[in-house]
Amino acid sequence: MSKTGKVYRCKECGYTTSHWLGRCPQCDAWNSIEEVLPEKETKKPLTSRIPKGSRLEEIESSPLERITTDYLEIDRLLGGGIVPGSVLLIGGEPGIGKSTLMLQISDALSRKGLRVLYNCAEESVYQVGLRAKRLGIDGKNLILLSESSLDASINLYDEIRPDVFITDSIQAVKDESVETQAGTISQIKLCTSKIIDIAKRDNTVAFITGHVTKEGVLAGPKTLEHMVDGVFYFEGERDGMVRILRAVKNRYGDTNEVAFMEMESSGLKEISNPSLFFVREGLGETPGATVGVIMEGTRPILVEVQALVTRSVYSVPRRIVQGIDYNRFSIITAVLEKLLQMPLFNKDVFLNIPGGVNVKDPGIDLPVALAIISSTMEIPVPSDMFSFGEMGLTGEIRQVMWQEKRIEEAVRLGYREGVIPVMKRGGPRTLKEVRFLREVYEFIKRCQTLS
Ligand code: TYD
Ligand code: MG
Repeated sequence: MSKTGKVYRCKECGYTTSHWLGRCPQCDAWNSIEEVLPEKETKKPLTSRIPKGSRLEEIESSPLERITTDYLEIDRLLGGGIVPGSVLLIGGEPGIGKSTLMLQISDALSRKGLRVLYNCAEESVYQVGLRAKRLGIDGKNLILLSESSLDASINLYDEIRPDVFITDSIQAVKDESVETQAGTISQIKLCTSKIIDIAKRDNTVAFITGHVTKEGVLAGPKTLEHMVDGVFYFEGERDGMVRILRAVKNRYGDTNEVAFMEMESSGLKEISNPSLFFVREGLGETPGATVGVIMEGTRPILVEVQALVTRSVYSVPRRIVQGIDYNRFSIITAVLEKLLQMPLFNKDVFLNIPGGVNVKDPGIDLPVALAIISSTMEIPVPSDMFSFGEMGLTGEIRQVMWQEKRIEEAVRLGYREGVIPVMKRGGPRTLKEVRFLREVYEFIKRCQTLS
């Protein structure tokens, strides 16, 4: 500690120093060092109170009371509705749709007779009002406020005692008792704990929005994850239409559940049947296009996988990948080159999963391999065929989670043929179970002789 008693800490890596620096010497981040406030030491007496424990069998498991928003996707994501007293964090890149969602949820809840206080600290009341009118929100029970002082917004809260309290965004409000700027880690934490306190005290639903960049650089909201009851992050391209809201944490529901939405001129609209959304109708039999079945949360979803393999005119061939992790893609192409002697080293390979999803499910490996082989060999695969499966480095096709559920969804949508990993209990006869990549290759070659 310096003579002044001040301590500075890097908000990226936690490096501490006695004086302010423009650049962190440990992680090289610029402008990341900020003053940390000494926590007051209060000596509490040792307690002699003995708390009463509860026997597990005595605990009643009555279902939680929940408020539904009438957006089925959102309700499902939340685990069946919002639990009163819960604090929910909605994160995402700027411009992805957090404020739009907050306005639409405010509308849905105020229509149910709940009173909503919405602090749109980043925009003026006028701006938000205009947007609300455009979205067709009348909002009798909705009170808008644009206040950068959290304490002032809480004063209004205390006066009107709403059922729902929204702070948009947590980076734009400030706790007056502390000198630091709005948006710093210490401010974000302090403001959040104040909001949590009132939500728990009054059984109020509190929504907090927070900006997170793609790289997670401004990782402020991430530090709040452990404090709040639910954390939901927006995924998707800002210029695209699809928005995926993913539950990263949910004390009152499943994590990894997702809600699919579309950004339209009239706001966010739910995509109730994502499989139909991501697979174009009449896909046709084109080399390089196939359908894969992935899991998003507990739901199987069909996606189209497109590959284009062309002769390269560059000394270093191009690899352009959208929709799956680049490293995953590199592994798949390496395995194809090594085990099938597929000459990709002098080819440009483009891979795309249309619709703007970013697939993390390893079950996408096999469809990706199929699409690349199909485009390289110029052999179309049947249009009513689906596939899923993880591929190992030695070309083995491995089982993935929820195989039965995936098959069910594909069959429900009219896909009759399938290339899948070996099923433990044996799969339907129309499906081809494969153990190695070589069998996938043989399958595609057979498609040629059949067509
Ligand atoms: P917004 O909710 O303001 O994003 P955030 O709060 O996450 O920063 O969304 C802004 C974007 O959404 C903006 O680019 C315009 C677009 N948008 C629509 O396409 N339709 C709409 O009805 C609304 C309200 C916004
Ligand atoms: Mg906003």
